Amino acid sequence: MREGVEKLTTETGAGQWGSSLAFAGSLFDLEIEVYMVRVSYEQKPYRKTMMKLYGADVVPSPSTRTEVGKRIREKFPDTSGSLGIAISEAVERCLSLENTKYSLGSVLNHVLLHQSVTGQETMEQLNSVDEYPDTVIGCVGGGSNFAGLAYPYIVDQKKRPQKETEFIAVESTACPSISRGEYLYDHGDTGRITPLMKMFTVGHEFVPDPIHAGGLRYHGMAPSLSMLIKHGVVQPRAYNQVEALDVAVVFAQQEGIIPAPETAHAIKAMIDEALRCKETGEAKTVVILMSGHGFFDMSAYEAHLKGELKPFELPQARIDKTVGSLKGLYPDV
Ligand SMILES: Cc1ncc(COP(=O)(O)O)c(C=O)c1O
Repeated sequence: MREGVEKLTTETGAGQWGSSLAFAGSLFDLEIEVYMVRVSYEQKPYRKTMMKLYGADVVPSPSTRTEVGKRIREKFPDTSGSLGIAISEAVERCLSLENTKYSLGSVLNHVLLHQSVTGQETMEQLNSVDEYPDTVIGCVGGGSNFAGLAYPYIVDQKKRPQKETEFIAVESTACPSISRGEYLYDHGDTGRITPLMKMFTVGHEFVPDPIHAGGLRYHGMAPSLSMLIKHGVVQPRAYNQVEALDVAVVFAQQEGIIPAPETAHAIKAMIDEALRCKETGEAKTVVILMSGHGFFDMSAYEAHLKGELKPFELPQARIDKTVGSLKGLYPDV
């Protein structure tokens, strides 16, 4: 705002980042233009209303406002959209406007760094009750919320480990970049406007099935987190949305908190860990990140209660196609 910027463009999946930026925009008197992945725009209409209420312009992506959006709609008229496509649109739009900047909600190092306030705060809170985690768990879309919780502990492990802590990053089986993708240079967006980054990816052309965990529908993973996974510091895990929402219901009934479908994936890992400890008789401190509430996700819970939610098994051929296409594009990288 002080630099004379008048507008920010951004992408959003589930809508949390879009809501944050929309609110910040209203505080700093900046226009906010949000490209919201089409399937989430339709699944979570009230999230869109929330952003509009804060004063943002919310556009379902792919849209007709950008060249990349038009191209993708022409080729795939029924596409549910993806975070990769929404990023392309937000970046293209930013480049075409005066006094406009683009703001990314995950993946890049500075976003992960900003999020680390959650890990630092968690550490202080746990220190105050003399606790230290044996296991740290978070769900991963682009990786920022998990990194925010885990990185301060990963640094702490290097400095003065009180325990050997295990770190588990949980993704959706519908978009398995870290459990079934490859560690390659790829673009952060589908339209290939952004630079190449070394990361676990299922390929920037990959469009995930329309799962309700919209925030987990990203083809790649933050480069720093990808590297930690590559070196075995962080363990990947994947669950489908049905098993995730099954435990979300148990969690809601026990805790009174209705989790976001993304968060439900982390809860599933936590409950599996607790059940394993019950079997072995180990006493462990397991910390998870509650990345969001599910108040805008009642259509997911409705479908789940009716038994209509699909687990979406992902055939290997779909990953091979988009990873193969990436390797064909950059054979020497
Ligand atoms: C509730 C919730 N949890 C997790 C995520 C994934 O976030 P990240 O990109 O930080 O991994 C999102 C992203 O939209 C989200 O809305």
